[in-house]
Amino acid sequence: MTAYQKPQPYTIKADIREERYARGWYVLGNAASINDTPRMLSVFGTKLVAYRGKEDGLAHVLDAYCPHMGGDLSGGEVCANSVVCPFHKWSWGADGVCDDIPYANKIPEKAVIKSWPTLEKNGLVFVWQDPEGGEPIAEQEPLKLQHWYADDWTDWEMAEIPIASLGRELVDNMCDMAHFGPIHYTTVKSFMNTMNGHVFVQKMVGGHTILTEGDDSLITSVATYEGPAYMTTTMTGMMDGLPMTVHLLVSHIPQDMGNFLINFGVMVKKAEGSTEAENKTMAEAYMEKNIESFNQDVAIWNNKCIIDNPLMCDGDGPVNLVRKWYSQFMTNAADITNDQVKPREHVTMEGPTVEETIASMSQ
Ligand code: FES
Ligand SMILES: [Fe+2]
Repeated sequence: MTAYQKPQPYTIKADIREERYARGWYVLGNAASINDTPRMLSVFGTKLVAYRGKEDGLAHVLDAYCPHMGGDLSGGEVCANSVVCPFHKWSWGADGVCDDIPYANKIPEKAVIKSWPTLEKNGLVFVWQDPEGGEPIAEQEPLKLQHWYADDWTDWEMAEIPIASLGRELVDNMCDMAHFGPIHYTTVKSFMNTMNGHVFVQKMVGGHTILTEGDDSLITSVATYEGPAYMTTTMTGMMDGLPMTVHLLVSHIPQDMGNFLINFGVMVKKAEGSTEAENKTMAEAYMEKNIESFNQDVAIWNNKCIIDNPLMCDGDGPVNLVRKWYSQFMTNAADITNDQVKPREHVTMEGPTVEETIASMSQ
């Protein structure tokens, strides 16, 4: 019998990365978070300014540093659809073109700053990031979340959570079945992932002690990434003997290569006969419950290291699959291969499906 030969300790690898941010739509906040007071955004390794035009009512995002002498436009003011620099009052239109210099006879031709594509949908304001400077890809526009437009649903209750990590490590969570027990006290009954193009989905059925009433009540969760950073989750569970559905928003936006902000949101169905104030209180209560669960993840992300070569075992979900899918957003558009985007399905644990479980709740 040969004696056990202890292998060398495993070496965790994390490449030094060039500064590059994944191509796609990123949530800046809910609609109310962008208004006619310029808002400074410290994102994508730089400073941007977001504001709402006083005439067009639209959300606009520009580079924040004024090319005149470097003033910070987020300290300026909105005039019509332009933002005026606080330093010498040069005015910048929503298209990034300087449209007024109060003391000049002629505006220099070069007076143009970068204007970032924006989108307002589902009660959220998005900005488009593309390291190659391309226009938004039409098929990647987030789908309409019908419930946000329905009168019997609340608006998003939002929270902003800073995390010291890389966005990719957050997205890993989509296939991380094994963390549900230790982190969320959830007994997973079934777990699967699908990917197709820019969309990656996690479907899970489990028992959850924080979000449901007891051990024998199940929750279903369908989490969908549309692009690299915008994720919505629909959770269904039992509350006071009735099926209850909640939409969660788990979007993130990088500040730099080692930090990102999570824009976390909760939206619930209004209780019949309740006032707006009562419904807001209910949404806040759900937010508190969900934040409690979410913060268990946050504590892990804030302290973990970046790892390019995770050491997986046979019970783990397909982390390599989610990373392959994510890599499409870090690849120049012309170089994306079929392997990064083709439809795939992976079942990590077989069991009752989300659809079956929801059908049995309403019986
Ligand atoms: S630095 Fe902005 S107007 Fe001069
Ligand atoms: Fe989690």
